Amino acid sequence: MGNRVPLSVLLVLVTVLLSIFHSEQLQSSHSQTFLRIQRLLNFPAVLSSWNNNTDFCSTDSTSSLTVACYDGTITQLHIVGETRSPLLARNFSINSFFTTLVRLPSLKVLTLVSLGIWGPLPGKISHLSSLEIFNASSNFLYGSIPQELSLLSHLQTLILDHNMFSGHLPEWFDSFPALTVLSLKHNLFNGSLPDSLGSLENMRILSLSHNHFYGPVPDLHRLTNLQVLELDDNGFGPRFPQLGDKLVTLVLRNNKFRSSIPDEMSSCYQLERLDISANTFVGPFQLALMSLPSITYLNISGNKLTGMLLENLSCNSGLQAVDLSSNLLTGILPKCLMSNANDRTVLYARNCLEETNQNQHALPFCHTEAIAVGVVPEGKKHKPVSKAVLSLGIVCGTFGGVSIIALLFFIIRRRNVKTKTKDPPPTKLISENAASGYTSKLLSDARYISQTMKFGTVDLPPYRAFSLDEIVAATNNFDSACFMGEGSQGKMHRGQLKDGLLVAIRSVKITKSFSTQDFVHNIEQIFKYRHRHLVSVLGHCFECYLDDSSVSSIFIVFEYVPNGTLKSWISDRHYRKSLTWTQRIEAAIGVAKGIQYLHAGIVPGVYSNNLKITDVLLDQNFVAKIKIYDLPLLSLMRKVGQGNPSRELKSPSTNKNVKQEDESDVYDFGVILLELILGRTIKSRNVDTLKDLLQASITADGEARRSIIDPAVRKVCLDQSLKTMMEICVRCLVKEPAERPSNEDVLWNLQFAAQVQDAWVGDSQSGSDDSPISPLASIRMTFH
Ligand SMILES: *[C@@H]1O[C@H](CO)[C@@H](O)[C@H](O)[C@H]1NC(C)=O
Ligand SMILES: *[C@@H]1O[C@H](CO)[C@@H](O)[C@H](O)[C@H]1NC(C)=O
Ligand SMILES: *[C@@H]1O[C@H](CO)[C@@H](O)[C@H](O)[C@H]1NC(C)=O
Ligand SMILES: *[C@@H]1O[C@H](CO)[C@@H](O)[C@H](O)[C@H]1NC(C)=O
Ligand SMILES: *[C@@H]1O[C@H](CO)[C@@H](O)[C@H](O)[C@H]1NC(C)=O
Ligand SMILES: *[C@@H]1O[C@H](CO)[C@@H](O)[C@H](O)[C@H]1NC(C)=O
Repeated sequence: MGNRVPLSVLLVLVTVLLSIFHSEQLQSSHSQTFLRIQRLLNFPAVLSSWNNNTDFCSTDSTSSLTVACYDGTITQLHIVGETRSPLLARNFSINSFFTTLVRLPSLKVLTLVSLGIWGPLPGKISHLSSLEIFNASSNFLYGSIPQELSLLSHLQTLILDHNMFSGHLPEWFDSFPALTVLSLKHNLFNGSLPDSLGSLENMRILSLSHNHFYGPVPDLHRLTNLQVLELDDNGFGPRFPQLGDKLVTLVLRNNKFRSSIPDEMSSCYQLERLDISANTFVGPFQLALMSLPSITYLNISGNKLTGMLLENLSCNSGLQAVDLSSNLLTGILPKCLMSNANDRTVLYARNCLEETNQNQHALPFCHTEAIAVGVVPEGKKHKPVSKAVLSLGIVCGTFGGVSIIALLFFIIRRRNVKTKTKDPPPTKLISENAASGYTSKLLSDARYISQTMKFGTVDLPPYRAFSLDEIVAATNNFDSACFMGEGSQGKMHRGQLKDGLLVAIRSVKITKSFSTQDFVHNIEQIFKYRHRHLVSVLGHCFECYLDDSSVSSIFIVFEYVPNGTLKSWISDRHYRKSLTWTQRIEAAIGVAKGIQYLHAGIVPGVYSNNLKITDVLLDQNFVAKIKIYDLPLLSLMRKVGQGNPSRELKSPSTNKNVKQEDESDVYDFGVILLELILGRTIKSRNVDTLKDLLQASITADGEARRSIIDPAVRKVCLDQSLKTMMEICVRCLVKEPAERPSNEDVLWNLQFAAQVQDAWVGDSQSGSDDSPISPLASIRMTFH
């Protein structure tokens, strides 16, 4: 028998070998995909167990990490990062990330929670055509829901809570016939809901809380499986939604509902939680709601519901919390609410009940109010409360009108701000009658440099040499009324040029004998100091001795920035209105851009500028500008006065510690951020303590975070924006210079904070943001 192997055995062997080979190959390609995912997510702690030798299909699953395989393919990937994970670094690319994910085309379950993922959800997700459950909560996804998502016809669960999605909910939601859970809580969606939602008959949980939706809720009565409907914190209304009767949870809190409660609610026998608080519901409060067999939480507070409570009413013994406060109820609090009251909350203040425990209005109040809203008497409940709605409608219509006007005003103002900043200031060319033989070569060099280095972003007249006469005329011969101050480097005067332009002029006395030619390099250095976020240099002037024409003084002419220091706008509360949150972020962005320019826009860079909040000025449009009167350009000039100018030109940047010096500006910037957040100036010995406080509050809840910041912005800053600002601030203040973030990193985070805040303020038109000028969207940034 020996060497004759039957063909069939051979075939089996080959097949087995092939399939082993195949599955190993599959395994290794999957491994690469997983390792790539790990890398793209920047090695989060939850994936720390993954390495080259991991057998991904046979790892133990935990609540935060699960990989499930079936038949050699990956069917489930479940990754839950640490709560409040910060944004992934700027080099994260959501596109690469999804390109990698779609290499697992058999995925049915994909959970990517709290991983710091940011960017718009790529349409590529549609390649995961088997996807049934997708949970991407608590990331930083933004933009609208991509149309391609509609190709995922097996999708059953879509959870995108706590992201920054915006735009309308698309009409094509009926392309998910199997959809049972749709949860979009805490995003920035707006618009009204598409009617197609009403045809998703398998829907069990629909949660749209905390967005900017408005308008009527589509007819949902066909959703007979609907158990949870959460619409709180939106602008829905005015009619009570039409619903099936299987509801377990119904939350309509804080919307714009203005109708009565339909009778059908009293037959929702599975209803456990009903929260219709903070609306303007009118008409009778159905007492039967209190005795629904499953009800445990009932909150009708903050409406205009009427009715008379009786002592002998019955209520469900499982009731945990009842809040009837701020309505128009009369009568006596039912006994059943008071019995076994040990762990039950019962609130009923601000009604007209015959009770003394919680604050009540006098009976006539409720009667007049009830008439005022035109409540129809019981018994006619089926007629809608048309009058009530009408009269309220008029009132609200008027309010609506007012807010539209306010909005228009706001938009126009914004436009104005924009055009204002675009309009170049009046520029008049004044003949270059420079005091000394200032070469036109220098000026043409200046033009050359300004083009190549793009400091053309400043709306300023071109750099030029001024004559002494001009300087004298502008300052009224250095009149004491024009005196602004004196530093170690000479006096500062305010002045006005003939064309009306306001300027600030620094005079530097030169004690040694130098000719103007000796200063060529210094002047070359000086006219690089032109940038939107620097108090820019407009020109210079030499004063020379008549006898040997050596230089006696140098005048440096700066633009005049009229609006005072940043400090005065956050802490001098009695004398001026403090900056809004948005303006603070924008100011911070300005300062960061100024620093970035000093480091990288000028060659050689200027480091270690020892910046303080008093070194930042605001112009009439609240654009922040770093005051550079005292920056190294002038210390250079001072040194010039003491030695040979051309040898003194070595800028600090040629120093080997560039990196460290770079980071020292970042630290100083961190202190300014801290001051902006806390709304007060801070002594350097207190910085560490306050940094720790900030650090602690980052991991606490939003409330705690808010409690430590400047009360002037507490109400209007969005938590995500605040958190981002705090995080970057803390990172700037790290002890070890090398661990501080780069300028780019700082800027990116600030712009992110601005973007989040802007999206939010822009959407809610929050009336509290009543700043003199709101340069909101001037930095619509792109993330790529
Ligand atoms: C992103 O940058 C960080 C450092 O900032 C680096 O550690 C990481 O490898 C980079 N990630 C990618 C995907 O390039
Ligand atoms: C994993 O494998 C890749 C290539 O297959 C190699 O470049 C890398 O160094 C390996 N990593 C470890 C930790 O062994
Ligand atoms: C989605 O993720 C959140 C956050 O971890 C979790 O609370 C929720 O239960 C998840 N939902 C599903 C259906 O997996
Ligand atoms: C909805 O939000 C989008 C994006 O944020 C915005 O462009 C649009 O104007 C908003 N629409 C309404 C009606 O508020
Ligand atoms: C009822 O709702 C109001 C407004 O939404 C809220 O302030 C109050 O705490 C709620 N009552 C209870 C008992 O939860
Ligand atoms: C409750 O008391 C009122 C009068 O106080 C009476 O008319 C009503 O029948 C009583 N209801 C029940 C259920 O006992």
